[in-house]
Amino acid sequence: MTTITHPSFGEVAPDRVIVFDTTLRDGEQSPGFSMNLEEKLRMAEALEDLGVDVIEAGFAIASPGDFASVQAIAEKLQGAVVCSLARSGRADIQAAADALKPARRKRIHTFISTSPLHMKYKLQMEPEAVLQAVIDSVTFARQFTDDVEWSAEDGSRTEPDFLCRCVEAAIKAGATTINIPDTVGYAVPEEFAAIFTMLRERVPGADKVILSAHCHNDLGLAVANTLAAIKAGVRQVECTINGIGERAGNAALEEIAMALKTRHDAMPADSAIVTRNIVRTSKLLATITGFDVQPNKAIVGRNAFAHEAGIHQDGMLKHAGTYEIMTPESVGWAKSSLVLGKHSGRAAFRDKLKQLGYGEIGDNALNDAFQRFKRLADAKKVVFDEDIVALVDDEVVRAHDHVRFVSLDVHAGSKGPQRAVLELDIDGEVRSAESTGDGPVDATFKAIRMLFPHEADLKLYQVHAVTEGTDAQAKVTVRLEEKGKLVDGQGADTDTLVASARAYIHALNKLMVKRLRTAPAAPAA
Ligand code: KIV
Ligand code: ZN
Repeated sequence: MTTITHPSFGEVAPDRVIVFDTTLRDGEQSPGFSMNLEEKLRMAEALEDLGVDVIEAGFAIASPGDFASVQAIAEKLQGAVVCSLARSGRADIQAAADALKPARRKRIHTFISTSPLHMKYKLQMEPEAVLQAVIDSVTFARQFTDDVEWSAEDGSRTEPDFLCRCVEAAIKAGATTINIPDTVGYAVPEEFAAIFTMLRERVPGADKVILSAHCHNDLGLAVANTLAAIKAGVRQVECTINGIGERAGNAALEEIAMALKTRHDAMPADSAIVTRNIVRTSKLLATITGFDVQPNKAIVGRNAFAHEAGIHQDGMLKHAGTYEIMTPESVGWAKSSLVLGKHSGRAAFRDKLKQLGYGEIGDNALNDAFQRFKRLADAKKVVFDEDIVALVDDEVVRAHDHVRFVSLDVHAGSKGPQRAVLELDIDGEVRSAESTGDGPVDATFKAIRMLFPHEADLKLYQVHAVTEGTDAQAKVTVRLEEKGKLVDGQGADTDTLVASARAYIHALNKLMVKRLRTAPAAPAA
């Protein structure tokens, strides 16, 4: 393999793997994972800090909200290449180009299905018409940027000859990255790798472009397929934080990055991922979406570095290498440490936030977070890093909410009736309501409904402790459903009922954003 010259990256060495993150597009597309503009911006900044090379910020034509998010991310990011997805039609590509206008470095990613099944049933197009659409879409996209990626949707189930023809046509039309998705997660590693070997052998110009792998996890093989593709010459991997994405998800960024780092002997390739920022980014995504990763999830699950069995603990004490193939610190796990006390000032708090990897936080969010930290330090004997992260993420993701929590007074216990008196700030006006209910949580949620009437149904109510101990902060997730739309909200507080109210209000705010998003025909990806 040789060095490739790429319009956005210059000389790309044979052992350099470009990380293309699609958390904000493929990840965000899956049910319950939608994010509003501020949340996407916060994630995009975290992805840039993580060292991601290309950030797929959204699908500009999908809705006004998607367009605005791609545009805002394009305006904000200085380092990473910002990308928008587009189907092959001109309107899609034009929308992507318009949204990306402010970007310092931009990419248009256009795709069309190439498998017999998709062409016949989904597109209802003849192969020759699809081939023409490949040429037209890439040619049109090149009018706006030199960095154009073309994807063969359902590429892994495409007939080899036709795939070669499409790839050759895309390269001739000016595509600089060729992506082969395993759209339905059907491929197995050897077979997926063989597709790239074939393209390199048979397609003229394939050695001058970046080949890319995009794997879904329906059979749990997304990361294995991606690594096999790297071995077969792929220089770009498409992935998401925590492996979120359509159905069973996409290949998990953190797993690919750590596999490359830990098994460099087996896969001599490097990414630019700053691995110590992995856990932070994973937690931020969990806070924003309300979906925690499973405890045994590789790299970022809370048990990923836990050693319970006595025999393992004994081995670890003698030599960490007995049961640990990488250090928890290398991916950003830190031992819980006492951080600040109730006498700590704003400067120390700001300093701590810097240490925890928060870049710029708006003054309002900082003030609110500081006030909450003071209350937390009063309520809790010890304040851990995890507490600060939960609290600040909670504050940052709420900075632009229309409905905000002000106060809650609850009468609970066995004598009843359980009652809640709640104050909310709704678009700058503080209103209050009192309600009884079947328990304090029900009373609180009813009071929210009185102050802000809505039709949504409660689908999930979940409570976790952020740290150990009876004075730990509670982290609550609330899932609401309205007309088939699902949203998850999160709240953290030492008082479980306050955390519950915050989580419900967060979900309501997300629902309002979702109502504004008028999706066109569901984008297939
Ligand atoms: O899975 C898929 O095929 C996709 C493409 C649009 C890249 O997400
Ligand atoms: Zn996909």
